[in-house]
Amino acid sequence: MRKSGYIFIGVVLLFIYSSCQMNEQTNNASEIDNKVEALIQQMTLDEKIGQMCQVNGGQGHDESIRNGAIGSILNEVDPVNINRLQKIALEESRLGIPIIVARDVIHGFKTVFPIPLGQAATWNPELVQEGCRIAAKEASSTGVKWTFAPMIDISRDARWGRIAESLGEDPYLTSVLGAAMVKGFQGDSLNDQTSIVACAKHFAGYGAAEGGRDYNSTLIPPRELRDIYLPPFKAAVDAGVRTFMSGFNDIDGVPSTGSEFLFRQVLREEWQFDGFVVSDWASPWEMINHGFVADEKEAAKRSIIAGVNMEMATTTYRDNIKALLDEGALDIKIIDQAVREILRVKFELGLFDNPYIAEESQNQFAKAEYLEAAKQAASQSMVLLKNDEKLLPLKSTQKIALIGPMANQAYEQLGTWIFDGDSTLSITPLTALQNEFGKDKVLFAEGMSISRTRHNKGFRQAIKQAKKSDVIVFVGGEESILSGEAHSRANIDLPGVQNDLIKELKKTGKPLILVVMAGRPLTIGEISKYADAVIYAWHPGTMGGPALADILSGKYNPSGKLPVTFPKVVGQIPMYYNHKNTGRPANPDSWTQMYDIPVKAPQTSLGNESHYIDAGYEPLYPFGYGLSYTTYEYSELTINKTNFNRDETIEVSFNIENTGEFDGVEIAQLYVRDLVGNVSRPVKELKAFKRISLQKGEQSTISMEVKVSDLAFHNIEMEKVVEAGEFQLWIGGDSNATLSTKFTVN
Ligand code: BGC
Repeated sequence: MRKSGYIFIGVVLLFIYSSCQMNEQTNNASEIDNKVEALIQQMTLDEKIGQMCQVNGGQGHDESIRNGAIGSILNEVDPVNINRLQKIALEESRLGIPIIVARDVIHGFKTVFPIPLGQAATWNPELVQEGCRIAAKEASSTGVKWTFAPMIDISRDARWGRIAESLGEDPYLTSVLGAAMVKGFQGDSLNDQTSIVACAKHFAGYGAAEGGRDYNSTLIPPRELRDIYLPPFKAAVDAGVRTFMSGFNDIDGVPSTGSEFLFRQVLREEWQFDGFVVSDWASPWEMINHGFVADEKEAAKRSIIAGVNMEMATTTYRDNIKALLDEGALDIKIIDQAVREILRVKFELGLFDNPYIAEESQNQFAKAEYLEAAKQAASQSMVLLKNDEKLLPLKSTQKIALIGPMANQAYEQLGTWIFDGDSTLSITPLTALQNEFGKDKVLFAEGMSISRTRHNKGFRQAIKQAKKSDVIVFVGGEESILSGEAHSRANIDLPGVQNDLIKELKKTGKPLILVVMAGRPLTIGEISKYADAVIYAWHPGTMGGPALADILSGKYNPSGKLPVTFPKVVGQIPMYYNHKNTGRPANPDSWTQMYDIPVKAPQTSLGNESHYIDAGYEPLYPFGYGLSYTTYEYSELTINKTNFNRDETIEVSFNIENTGEFDGVEIAQLYVRDLVGNVSRPVKELKAFKRISLQKGEQSTISMEVKVSDLAFHNIEMEKVVEAGEFQLWIGGDSNATLSTKFTVN
């Protein structure tokens, strides 16, 4: 037979195979729907209400589970107890409906991966997905079947403690990585023992908390909501996420938990989501504090009408649904629908057929391959911000003074949200550097016992060690507890006396490498002047030490890129790369630093542009920024044509050359600007990126694609459109990319 004959048969077989698969899936879905309906028919009102209630773990739930009064438990992680509770639900409750056990598995379970903001700095969806797969394997081995992650709130404010949990400021990067997280947690099929349900949170706009103060109100104009804050959630739905969580925040006066617009109109009508929504902790009840409802009864009513299926922690549902039905304030149909959506996910998870964790599969933690993946994630997350005189990588003969309050803190390097993280697994920079360079080559003194230490008692010993060494590695930053939920900071400098210690160390004349472990961008601009090299390590997790040692030794050439803009000073916030141009954009030629302005200079003599006279107009480091031990040169940018129709794809090609001394991985970024819109448009928007591996001296022609339809935005009529007109496109290693070309859309 000719080759084409084989190909034809292959295609036919593939078609038959995929149709069978599709049929199987559809059958499964309709089979599940039938089972759900059959169950709902048999359920009493109390049992329905029970499904809508999630309680915090601990003692005293047996009787309620037996009565069908609890649908879900959070914060229970002992497999023996989970099996026991599940047995009560299955065998002793009237209808045998399993409970679903939830936990915040945010960046790892026992094996801790870098904080999500650090994972975002890898720009590596496969690795991020693998990290979540591992977290799911570990968590599911205890009986946890639902995680409250990914958090895909766009975060433009480093003061906000929860920026640590986010994937940064960019809608596209957050969409890609958030979808990867969903796939990692949920696996290929929910009906697999190692899969756990993901939860896209917090819908929506929580990251825009005014002033970066947690739980604060948000003021997000509808267009901004649609173009910036909602896309990652849509991407999560497309990736198959089965649950959503509402936010604590109100948007323009409407608490998210009571927003019919968000949960009915956008999520269910527009996006056709048919999973279920859980409130945030007590967020229905908190609508009383918001002044949005008068009492618990109204809180329950508004949340249920908005489309929040399950209430976490508080009991406004349990206590009020009956009365609301009796009064006619709620229809039983809305309750049935809420329950239907919850049960569907429980069936999809296989909880009815496979409710227990087998003894031999319990507590499967920290396998060698998990630790290796955590190390890779940590290495790829670290961002080299500065490397004067090619100080890094270190030479193996150099004697290192390892100083600083985060250099040997097994717990603090793990970061926020590590309920189950095991700090005894952590390998700190001290241990790892000793292993890498030899014990005799590493002279250690912490200098400060914690990041907030405010006295200089440890300075002398630190300076002594520095004097005896060839190079100083200062590992500072902020402890885990200084970021995360409710841990917003108004001043985001290095805390305690770290700046003083660094300045003292620098007086020894030794080259100094500043390593920052933190849950947010810190304002390190001034103190970086005392450092010859800077590595931003975020909170890197269990394997932070070995990852850092690999970077310092040159075994790993840094490839991380910032997922968020680094401001110079806190007063510049909010500062993000995809801002609008304004009518008076900053002009480098006319900006004069405050202290250089002549006395009594006339008001308009220095150019009236959009900048700060003290802090200028640029960030410390732009979005997408990150150095390598080698250098890359971009050239020969071309696109397949210059005029596009809206259904076409822009094919971009360019040349990239590794012009330095090391093999490396570069993350090439593609940005687009819609030059004229019927509303003003961002100065740049990330539309694609690619990881490119290049040996030293190697060059390669790279192609990347952008669909013209991906250039759509919400116009003045709030329609999502791609407007005809001229666009500019850039390729480069960060959001300041200069290599560019133009095209038009017809
Ligand atoms: C947080 C959620 C979290 C929940 C359960 C809340 O305080 O806002 O993100 O999932 O607690 O722990």
